[in-house]
Amino acid sequence: MIRATLSFPHGFLWGTATAAHQVEGDNANNDWWEWERQPGRIRNNHRSGKACDWWGGRWAEDFDRAAGTGQNTHRLSVEWSRIEPSPATWDDAALDAYRQILRGALERGLMPMVTLHHFTSPLWLASMGGWLADDIVTRFERYARKVVGALQDLVGLWVTINEPNVLAYSGYAGPEFPPGARSMPKAVQALRNMALAHAAAYRAIHELQPGALVGMAHHVRGFAPARPGNLLDEQVARLRGRVFNETLPRVLADGRFSVLGRAERMTGVAGTQDFFGLNYYTVERCAFDLRRPGQLFTRSFYPEGADLSPTGFIANEPDGLARALAWARRFGLPVYITENGVEDADDRMRPRYLAAHLRQVWKAVNIGTPVRGYYYWSLVDNFEWERGWTQRFGLWGLDTETQARLRRPSVDFYAEVCKANALSSEMVARYAPEAVEALFPSHGPDGLDVQRG
Ligand code: GAL
Repeated sequence: MIRATLSFPHGFLWGTATAAHQVEGDNANNDWWEWERQPGRIRNNHRSGKACDWWGGRWAEDFDRAAGTGQNTHRLSVEWSRIEPSPATWDDAALDAYRQILRGALERGLMPMVTLHHFTSPLWLASMGGWLADDIVTRFERYARKVVGALQDLVGLWVTINEPNVLAYSGYAGPEFPPGARSMPKAVQALRNMALAHAAAYRAIHELQPGALVGMAHHVRGFAPARPGNLLDEQVARLRGRVFNETLPRVLADGRFSVLGRAERMTGVAGTQDFFGLNYYTVERCAFDLRRPGQLFTRSFYPEGADLSPTGFIANEPDGLARALAWARRFGLPVYITENGVEDADDRMRPRYLAAHLRQVWKAVNIGTPVRGYYYWSLVDNFEWERGWTQRFGLWGLDTETQARLRRPSVDFYAEVCKANALSSEMVARYAPEAVEALFPSHGPDGLDVQRG
């Protein structure tokens, strides 16, 4: 191992990300709450229930944990169904509760990044068709205005919609998320409406708060050909990337919406991002398979020998983050890594996953990618959608019976990184010794200057 310290730029943001439904508890007025009550929808029929009890006030102790371990920012979301419990009825008490939470973050030195829509929709909206509702664009814009009007003195970084692609393909093309529509045309329509709603919200936010930075959190998944050099595998991998990863970022950049045979020029949509929010987890291999038209003729899998998370959900593929960052850079915007993490209850893989991904972030910064911050998913174990409580992404573990938090070793690893604003070989040697030789090879770093010491 070479001894080295990989320092990040002054002012780099270090934090964790959460989402309202996954941590608050008792979100009884949204589509997920109802979905969780339908047998078979969620693994083991788990329910969000009290979640991490943030609505009951436990955000305060979790923010203490975040701030006490060197973090200086937190990404959270506000819950539409609390703020607008029925159409055009606004709950000021809910907005006040969010003001208190945001003030609590600021008081602890955690700069908030706030997401307006993170997968959940109010039940009343779901009954109108959710992202397919006729007036969804106006309704979302009105909601954005209300939230930003009430919270703007406390928030400077806004994410309009989290992972439109995951929401569209899991909920409208697929059966995993509500409404479980199983229709590709509906997924395309939902994506289209999310682009328009984002643009309307972007303009509304800037009208109210000219200095705000507004973006989206894009899920960018790596798709690699199963057999490199095989033309069909390469083609389906490229197609998946275009359809899944590129549709939304492209339309927000140039106003051209084009996916699966539907093409449209949108007005007022080009140039509606102040930053690129990047959620990155893994890379999957794609093999051409004629029997799978619904999956764009792809069989996708993780290769044999992959470094897999305990439930096989995520392969540790840090190079995929490097590729995602290189691609995101082309949009010419500052980049925030709005999510990155792994489910690992025993915390055996997390330290090396974290170390390897942070090393890629450092490398990207050093070749000029304007990465401004990194949000680990997540601060504490929370309700993982259709996978319920079977996956544990937290730096801290959660006992859902007692609400006790469990300090995993990664808490201390990440704390050292945040406090030093750097990743060092010495930290990796202590927390992820199995990865140190690969990340800090004795024969020297891969062509990049590192500060020796
Ligand atoms: C993302 C999502 C998060 C979280 C994470 C881990 O797709 O935005 O809410 O669930 O995956 O599964």
